[in-house]
Amino acid sequence: MHGRRLATTEEVVAIVTPDSQDALDRLESWTTTHDIGLTVVEIGTDVTHEHVSEARETIGVTIGGDGAFLEGVRQFTPHRVPVIGVNTGTLAFLARVDPRDLDAALTEVLRGRAVVNTRQQYTVQTAGIDTTGVNEVFIEKTPPDERHGTKVGSLHVFIDDEYVGEYFGSGLLVSTPTGSTGRSFSNRGPVHYPNENRSLQIVPHETINASASPIVVSEKSDVYIVLDTEFNVDIDGGREYKTVGANEVIHITGASNPAHTIRTSYDDPFITALVDKLGWSLRDVDDAGPVDALPSEDTEIDFLTRACRVAREAARSAGEPLRELHGKVEQIEYKSSKSDIVTEADYQAEHIITTAIKNEFPNHGIRSEENVSSAGSGQYIWSIDPLDGTGNFTHGNPNYAVSIALIDADKGEPVVGVVYNPETNEMFYASDGNGAYQNGSPITPTDRDRLDESMLLSGYDPDGGFLSVFYQKTQGVRRLGSAALNLAYVATGSADAVWEYDTYPWDVSAGICILREAGGQVTNDVGERYAVNLDASEDRTPLLGSNGTIHEALLEHLSDAEL
Ligand code: IPD
Ligand code: CA
Ligand code: CA
Repeated sequence: MHGRRLATTEEVVAIVTPDSQDALDRLESWTTTHDIGLTVVEIGTDVTHEHVSEARETIGVTIGGDGAFLEGVRQFTPHRVPVIGVNTGTLAFLARVDPRDLDAALTEVLRGRAVVNTRQQYTVQTAGIDTTGVNEVFIEKTPPDERHGTKVGSLHVFIDDEYVGEYFGSGLLVSTPTGSTGRSFSNRGPVHYPNENRSLQIVPHETINASASPIVVSEKSDVYIVLDTEFNVDIDGGREYKTVGANEVIHITGASNPAHTIRTSYDDPFITALVDKLGWSLRDVDDAGPVDALPSEDTEIDFLTRACRVAREAARSAGEPLRELHGKVEQIEYKSSKSDIVTEADYQAEHIITTAIKNEFPNHGIRSEENVSSAGSGQYIWSIDPLDGTGNFTHGNPNYAVSIALIDADKGEPVVGVVYNPETNEMFYASDGNGAYQNGSPITPTDRDRLDESMLLSGYDPDGGFLSVFYQKTQGVRRLGSAALNLAYVATGSADAVWEYDTYPWDVSAGICILREAGGQVTNDVGERYAVNLDASEDRTPLLGSNGTIHEALLEHLSDAEL
């Protein structure tokens, strides 16, 4: 699946066209029922910081046709608010939710089941225009004053510093993948499948040079168009429209900020929409291809696999604000000592993860490091460290991770573990009996059994006791600053063992599940199976995790370290 899961929604800002009252009534009743804030902005009015609060997870809803959706993209993108379009217009490609499905589609968003896709935007600059769009720039010969006057003109195109040539005709289109199914398509431009597609295409409009084919360029290319005569420049179907004089240069390139659009199961998939709306003749609307040709995302999966998938999506969603705040000066609160800090990022990540989990598993308990705790009503409790390695994080060091585990309280064991490093995009995960993986590939620890060949990791080591003993006996002891990553790295075999002087359940539960499923061993300092104790969070719990084969040798020397 492309796109990230939209984990939370607390506020809706709606841009509404005047003739959409019925759909607006439905939206108002939906937000009231779900206790979600609603601000309605009439189309044509700017969306400002007063409408969009940074502290609340907001989505933008447009009610109208594709024009309203494009206006929504322009208004919401600077606020990083994802947009969903309800179509009360006629033919729409972008506003894809039918008003009758509005409640169900938004409930899917609320439950964390919708996906946010990014869409390539462009920037365009010329005399009197400096703007961003998501569809297309249409450069059209200004119609003559006289009925018999000339309706064609010349323009010259450059891609970066290479001259492409002279286009003689009624104009030119430069469109994004999103815009490829509009005017560009009716001028024989190719259709771009939009997922992760970052490009621009130049399509001649009724050019007299019949051999001039469309050209697709990277979104990083600079397209320059020099006008020989006066042309009209139309941005995204009339959102902005100007007449630009002879000899002016139009500069178009990919925008650095993508638009964020929301996709639910109520949108037609892309090719189905083509079949339905453009009469694409390769298949029928309901033809999903040969039965069982592809594995379906919706196939019935067992509970642990589903829980693990939800945890990975929550971790990935939390990774976005973490990546953004990483290394920036931000508010730091000291918890109990100077080495125990908590940042705005910890809270943001925690909010995203816990909301996603509550949406999906409302009966489960939650214990998260910062301030979220709920009892739940069954045997399952989530143990979460939204940001493990806060010290590294605040210094701009990339060794930090999101750590999410599901504990089966009846067994007293973690049964799902996810450790995600947003900077390197390393996703480590496991669930009970299903093996351990890194980004889809199975992982296993090393099989080293000699201390003098091994590489160790350690956590907090107050008097340096562990370092002084094991530094001599091994090939080295490294301290990375994240207990969750330490365990994951032993599971992948990039170290042979890890020692932690004291641990909290949220630091290590996910990593323990991953290391055990990968084939490693995790005990306390005397070799007893490490027991995750959610209630003993104030007690010191030492941990020794290893590939298994070196475990005994490590235990033998631990007492020398006087820890
Ligand atoms: C800390 C890190 C560190 C470990 C500490 C943890 P935090 O977690 O995992 O490596 O040695 O014991 O408290 O505070 O960054 O979430
Ligand atoms: Ca931690
Ligand atoms: Ca933490």
